[in-house]
Amino acid sequence: MVFVNWKDSYKNALVSAEEAVSKIKSNSRIVVSHAVGEPLDLIDALVKNREQYENLEIVHMVAMGKGEYVKPGMEKYFHHNALFVGASTREAVKSGRADYTPCFFYEVPRLFKKGYLPIDVALIQVSEPDEHGYCSFGVSNDYSKPGAESAKLVIAEVNKNMPRTLGDSFIHVSDIDYIVESSHPIIELKPAKIGEVEKAIGKYCASLIEDGSTLQLGIGAIPDAVLLFLKDKKDLGIHSEMISDGVVELVEAGVINNKKKTLHPGKIVVTFLMGTKRLYDFIDNNPMIESYPVDYVNDPMVIMKNYKMVSINSCVQVDLMGQVCSESIGLKQISGVGGQVDFIRGTSMAEDGKAIIAIPSTAAHGKVSRIVPFLDEGAAVTTSRNEVDYIITEYGIA
Ligand code: COA
Repeated sequence: MVFVNWKDSYKNALVSAEEAVSKIKSNSRIVVSHAVGEPLDLIDALVKNREQYENLEIVHMVAMGKGEYVKPGMEKYFHHNALFVGASTREAVKSGRADYTPCFFYEVPRLFKKGYLPIDVALIQVSEPDEHGYCSFGVSNDYSKPGAESAKLVIAEVNKNMPRTLGDSFIHVSDIDYIVESSHPIIELKPAKIGEVEKAIGKYCASLIEDGSTLQLGIGAIPDAVLLFLKDKKDLGIHSEMISDGVVELVEAGVINNKKKTLHPGKIVVTFLMGTKRLYDFIDNNPMIESYPVDYVNDPMVIMKNYKMVSINSCVQVDLMGQVCSESIGLKQISGVGGQVDFIRGTSMAEDGKAIIAIPSTAAHGKVSRIVPFLDEGAAVTTSRNEVDYIITEYGIA
């Protein structure tokens, strides 16, 4: 394909947010960019415009915006099909206004592309185009890029604050049907508070991480606490579903240099990012960061190619047989499988890999133990007892 007139394509596609969402027809299935990549102005316009629709299905993983489309009273216009349950959607799933569809994160693009979950409309948020007319998916590549590639209609919020991530992270202006310019800040996630319990867990996790390892870390106080204890390590690398601010510090300290990685040496490989502006400035146009869609980054067969892979994830409950529930409290769905099993499987198969579940021993302000004889009735087994290598709490390593 020759892209001669991409600037004309851009001008022709440029509309207001209201006009863009007016192109969406009732009964459509819409996929929305993930986590901090949520196109906030488009979602606001969608909600404002709701009287024009009936039964729009909104497919989304971590919803970090206002979540107005799942509020009581919105049922006539919107139905949320959650592939992960987060703070803004939990109550809607619990009370039956929204559904949860269990699926491994790396499989989500296949659901779209193979027609199990055909997508009519992709609402994405991307960077401004470069001189060749390519916009970057920035903080949310994951299923956003495959979603846009599968959708019949692509509506993009082109945000001048969206960092430009490299890798396989681009969409050409000529592949976007409608463009809405925006300038709101990218949603920020402040670092979690690290207490004594998290510090103890972080220290135990760090004791298992050898020089030259490649890491996958989730989000929150425990991954941040692990990073605190890696300052004396050498030649660490990252192949992770996501990264947050803590990684920046270790890159600046020369601890993370990706030199010993057996796959993508020299590069931090991710599929999405969540943190503060410090992280977003760091990843902007940075050749050390490569972002790929989630069906590549989270594919266990790709993860296993990393020698000395270490994955660190968290859970809600673990029973004495080693069965791990990471997504529900009994029958109540509070989260999702996300990429946990993708990474635990890939890591277990990697040469000298270590799959770790790291948790505080109690929850609910110390009132309940997370280590139980049997999982609660109705709890989902997220990770089977056959797959975990280590369980770590503040009391030690099992
Ligand atoms: N019994 C009762 N309540 C429990 C509980 C238990 N066993 N375990 C957790 N809870 C409660 C907590 O008290 C907390 O309640 P609050 O919000 O009222 O304080 C809530 O459930 C969330 O638990 P917490 O452990 O604080 O959450 P977290 O933010 O540390 O996340 C997971 C933990 C397991 C939910 C999260 O890591 C997850 O979703 N994992 C699955 C996906 C994944 O691993 N992806 C790959 C990495 S990106």
